[in-house]
Amino acid sequence: MIEIEARLDELEQLGLARRTRLVSGPQGPRVVLDGKPVLLLCSNNYLGLADHPAVREAAADAAMRWGVGAGGSRLVSGTMTIHQRLEARLAAFERRQAALLFGSGYLANVGVVSALARAGDVVFSDELNHASIVDGCRLSRADVFIYEHGDVEHLEWGLREAEGRGALIVTDGVFSMDGDVAPLPELVELAQRYDVRLVVDEAHGTGTLGPGGRGAVADAGCEDGVDVIVGTLGKALGSYGAYVACDQQMARYLVNASRALIYSTAPAPPAVAGALAALSLLEEQPRRVEKLQANAALLRSELATAGFPVDGDARTPIVPLVFGDADLAVRTCEKALERGVFAQAIRPPTVPAGSSRLRLTVMASHSKSELRDAARALAQAATAAGIRPDDLGRRHAAAQDAEQQIHAGRFDDRGAGEAQFHDRRGDGRHDDVDDGRGFRDFAGAVSAPPPPRAAAGAGRGRLRPAALWDDGDGWIEQRSRPAADAAGRPFDAERDDRRRIPAAPAPAAAGVFDAEAPNALVEHAA
Ligand SMILES: Cc1ncc(COP(=O)(O)O)c(C=O)c1O
Repeated sequence: MIEIEARLDELEQLGLARRTRLVSGPQGPRVVLDGKPVLLLCSNNYLGLADHPAVREAAADAAMRWGVGAGGSRLVSGTMTIHQRLEARLAAFERRQAALLFGSGYLANVGVVSALARAGDVVFSDELNHASIVDGCRLSRADVFIYEHGDVEHLEWGLREAEGRGALIVTDGVFSMDGDVAPLPELVELAQRYDVRLVVDEAHGTGTLGPGGRGAVADAGCEDGVDVIVGTLGKALGSYGAYVACDQQMARYLVNASRALIYSTAPAPPAVAGALAALSLLEEQPRRVEKLQANAALLRSELATAGFPVDGDARTPIVPLVFGDADLAVRTCEKALERGVFAQAIRPPTVPAGSSRLRLTVMASHSKSELRDAARALAQAATAAGIRPDDLGRRHAAAQDAEQQIHAGRFDDRGAGEAQFHDRRGDGRHDDVDDGRGFRDFAGAVSAPPPPRAAAGAGRGRLRPAALWDDGDGWIEQRSRPAADAAGRPFDAERDDRRRIPAAPAPAAAGVFDAEAPNALVEHAA
């Protein structure tokens, strides 16, 4: 049984304890937070529609007309006129045959991934995918190959090794914590070449990128190559709930197979009507998206002027300031609050160990002067917390080096030709789906812990993701590498890149929550 008090103490000691903060009044560019007025710089209400008068009014009218609750699940009595109306509008917006409403983006990802893969299949998932995709992978009981972030070479290697067992590639379109965009054209090409489906989560793409705010997929011109788009109503569309956009056959299948849709109450009519009004505003006023992108560019340039290294795709509204150290990120967050700016500190396991950050998000409703002042306030806050903005880049690089030391992808093929893919990063973001035959991770004892991925002294950037498997005599490591070596010789896995690894010592204890420690056993983010 979990010792709750001890666990909470441990989290406090590690600087990883979390709590909720209280916003009084509606969401807007400025809010009253825990009783104090602040500029809100960490909300996903990107287009400022959550408190837009037309959206509020639509939700209030819907409450009067259809009531507050749907009263049942979609397949029983919960599908109402307003649901059908929004589904039709979302399908048209996404240029797809069909759209299906889900209770939330979390439920949609869990429901889609688990419906499209099953035991014996392999799901290919970017290492920085959202927790709801990770949980969908787990629920599917498929084997999961986690490819290094945005690394299509690593992905292709995995697709090859899966030998036809691949079911789908799944990726965030815009990554929620880094603000960068998935390499969608390459993913489409690989999905087609290896005959697997492609699912893209547009939670942070809808309303922020692409023509008319239609997302990262439309921005990349990849609509035809993506089988399922998952979008949320809870971010740019200012409401709550989510949708899946796909073809008619897929929609029919999900209605029959997606447990998160079938076994959960349909979205509430006021939330659905609010999203419908927000969608109308997005379609009628695409310059909101332009304003958002201009604001994102402005904040990035003001932060750069203040000395911060600024990562992510320049057009997306998510701007990470990576501090590495969790305490430092939290201290800077508190110092920024003292200066009237709220930018939440994000720590493991939401982000990988050693990459704690302030995740800044801009809104179309921020003014230029608010963003300029915020950049200055953040620079002062970082300095007051003990780090100069221009030292962040160096720190981040060092943290990434440390993190590489604990990265290990695992590949267990003890099961007579049946490849089992695993991942064991030690940071709790992605882990094994237990195959019941040997590997148990995070939740239980590790039968054969993988050694550190990187050889001592190996240079940053040179290493490719490693696969490890146990051939009965011990661990063998194989690095995935580009298709050809420097001399143009094709890569030959047998010849080129395998080495036997001495047995690693068993971990001290199972179930220890220590997200900053190499090879720690860590629970995934809730
Ligand atoms: C990439 C991504 N997907 C899905 C979700 C979940 O969406 P929702 O908040 O609607 O459950 C989030 C939100 O946190 C997200 O960032």
